[in-house]
Amino acid sequence: MEGGKGRVCVTGGTGFIGSWMIKKLLEDGYSVNATVRSSSNPEHKKDVSFLTNLAGASQKLEIMKADLRNPESFKEAIEGCIGVFHVATPVDFEEREAEEACLSVKSVKRVIYTSSASAVTMNGKEEQVMDESFWSDEEYLRTSKKFGWSYAISKTLTEKAVLEFGDKNGLQVVTVIPTFVLGPFICPKLPGSVRSSLSLAFGEKERFGYIHETPMVHVDDVARAHIFLLEHPNPKGSSVKEVKGLKLPDLSSKKLIDAGFKFEYGLEQMFVDAIECCKQKGYYL
Ligand SMILES: NC(=O)c1ccc[n+]([C@@H]2O[C@H](COP(=O)([O-])OP(=O)(O)OC[C@H]3O[C@@H](n4cnc5c(N)ncnc54)[C@H](OP(=O)(O)O)[C@@H]3O)[C@@H](O)[C@H]2O)c1
Repeated sequence: MEGGKGRVCVTGGTGFIGSWMIKKLLEDGYSVNATVRSSSNPEHKKDVSFLTNLAGASQKLEIMKADLRNPESFKEAIEGCIGVFHVATPVDFEEREAEEACLSVKSVKRVIYTSSASAVTMNGKEEQVMDESFWSDEEYLRTSKKFGWSYAISKTLTEKAVLEFGDKNGLQVVTVIPTFVLGPFICPKLPGSVRSSLSLAFGEKERFGYIHETPMVHVDDVARAHIFLLEHPNPKGSSVKEVKGLKLPDLSSKKLIDAGFKFEYGLEQMFVDAIECCKQKGYYL
């Protein structure tokens, strides 16, 4: 019998959000199976010491290899878990991905899938605020070729497939729809969204056009929202889904807030934490 709050799986443990979630879950008393993919060069082993050195990791963290190109590879990591946080994102769209493995492991009560505002807001509509009832439009994206269009198609099709798969197979699936994620990070790589958000500080003016009118969220709130939605008794209907710049609509968090979630960080804190973290890690600002 697992002690603490039980065992959960986090896919994409080496990533920005995945690694922050692992830290948070260990602090919250969960045991964690984290999946990482093998290095493309078998001679270069991935350094996961930033995960294994986390407080509590020696007793409560298992690291396992799994790749989205092989859904079966997730089975071992999902075995015995009460919840699965599917955070990893593939470069290409992979139908059904790791959800198939969740189905065959009976201990899994709920899958929390990390979607993206890109799956919601890129449809050419004029609304100032959108929520999870909107979908990005594949045709619109293919013709307009807006910045990030292929990623947006991949996230849209994947979220639809994940929700449909859950419905068809009686698997509880909840999706979280973060906007641009900013804040501190423990992963060794400078996360793409942090780099873009701090583009002015990094002296990369051209990148600023992509983010200067983009809604943002603190990475800690993203991690907390994922855990909140695992623990919520009934999260159904609670999904959160320039230079001449790109104006993105705001993304409404009404359902998450109505379900009782409280955001803790404002825009200023996102920047302060991200800048402090970059300084500590030696990124030149
Ligand atoms: N950051 C944002 O602003 C933002 C906003 C909205 C939504 N999201 C979503 O949040 C999730 C995490 O994003 P992130 O910013 O943390 O990205 P990230 O740092 O690039 O992390 C992505 C993770 O996915 C893993 N991955 C990629 N291809 C894989 C494959 N074929 N098999 C297994 N794992 C694979 C990566 O592994 P490697 O380390 O081996 O590459 C990495 O651990 C994604 O689903 C993304 O769409 C992010």
